[in-house]
Amino acid sequence: MASTLKPVLVLGGSGFVGTRAIAALRRLQPDLPITIGARDLERASVVAKQTTLTNAVKVDLERTSLGLPEGAAYSGVVTLLKDDTLNSMKYAQTHGVPYVAFSDYLFEIAPQVALYAQNPAKAPILFLGHVFGGAAVLAALHFARQFRTVERVAIAAIIHEDDHGGPTTQTDVERGARVARPLRRENGQWVWASTDIERPLTMSDGTTIQVRAYPVLDVASVAAATGARSVRFDLGVRSAVGLGRERSPAVEMIFEISGIDTAGSSRSVRHEITDDQNLSTVSAHGLAIAVERLLGLDGGPAVPAGLYNPDTLLDPTRAVEKLTQFGSRIALDVVR
Ligand SMILES: NC(=O)c1ccc[n+]([C@@H]2O[C@H](COP(=O)([O-])OP(=O)(O)OC[C@H]3O[C@@H](n4cnc5c(N)ncnc54)[C@H](OP(=O)(O)O)[C@@H]3O)[C@@H](O)[C@H]2O)c1
Repeated sequence: MASTLKPVLVLGGSGFVGTRAIAALRRLQPDLPITIGARDLERASVVAKQTTLTNAVKVDLERTSLGLPEGAAYSGVVTLLKDDTLNSMKYAQTHGVPYVAFSDYLFEIAPQVALYAQNPAKAPILFLGHVFGGAAVLAALHFARQFRTVERVAIAAIIHEDDHGGPTTQTDVERGARVARPLRRENGQWVWASTDIERPLTMSDGTTIQVRAYPVLDVASVAAATGARSVRFDLGVRSAVGLGRERSPAVEMIFEISGIDTAGSSRSVRHEITDDQNLSTVSAHGLAIAVERLLGLDGGPAVPAGLYNPDTLLDPTRAVEKLTQFGSRIALDVVR
């Protein structure tokens, strides 16, 4: 039987993250039609042919119509690139469908916030520039549930030095490192950090590297959701030298959380999530879990118009369960 759902438009669906996101969405939602939007229609069509119920269209972000035919109808717009025109968000608002912004650092979201504030009742807007498509922040909030009061959260994501993602990711990562100082919360104050940018961190294999503060939305989400007085997010890059074929884990997330636990005791924990799949794949899993919820396809209620972060859209514990079904492994109360 043909699907009665309208397709979700995935701009950038033919890229590194996009191809993996489409596979992950298909796994979660076998009946959801998907339309890949890109400039290179030939390449996008090749990707579309690899998945059921998927087609491709050529898009032009310079146009408010995105260059799409007038009668085109979608159930949502997912933008897997930095859309400096914001036409993809305007398109979603015009058509009253959910929108995902996947590529913005915390210092870049003011134009979307202003556009949302002009039209708050038009559509649900999800910020998902968070690391690994929200996987890190949701895991942190899942782990924070063992605390009555959270004082400090330090999250680190570690990837391999040759795990670059696609060209668009590389451009974005360079911009993130170049443009702004990292924001963090220190003793109850928001600080654009100029000192203590790097810190040593012991990875899951017991070796230590320098990780570096990174200007991602995760710090704002974790601080808002937990009330922690100190929050930082660091990115570490693991050298590929000497690893040979030993790539496990390909990515890891390390969570150090301190506070008062639910029994009333002062407590510090370290939990780890590791995954043998690369940065693009783990990010695609986070994205697919969020898109499924945003479109109301996971059995939960429809999501009303509003401005969302992953932490206000998804239940952290359910999201972590789904991440483990995609292959992530959790190690609790690790001592290094
Ligand atoms: N939040 C997260 O966790 C997270 C994680 C990883 C990556 N990202 C972000 O995800 C994005 C995609 O990364 P990627 O590694 O998949 O990059 P990629 O492999 O370079 O893919 C980019 C995709 O966007 C399309 N595209 C680029 N410019 C376009 C334009 N002006 N109009 C229409 N389509 C355009 C490309 O197709 P055409 O060239 O055919 O147009 C391609 O499909 C990046 O912005 C990256 O920063 C976010």
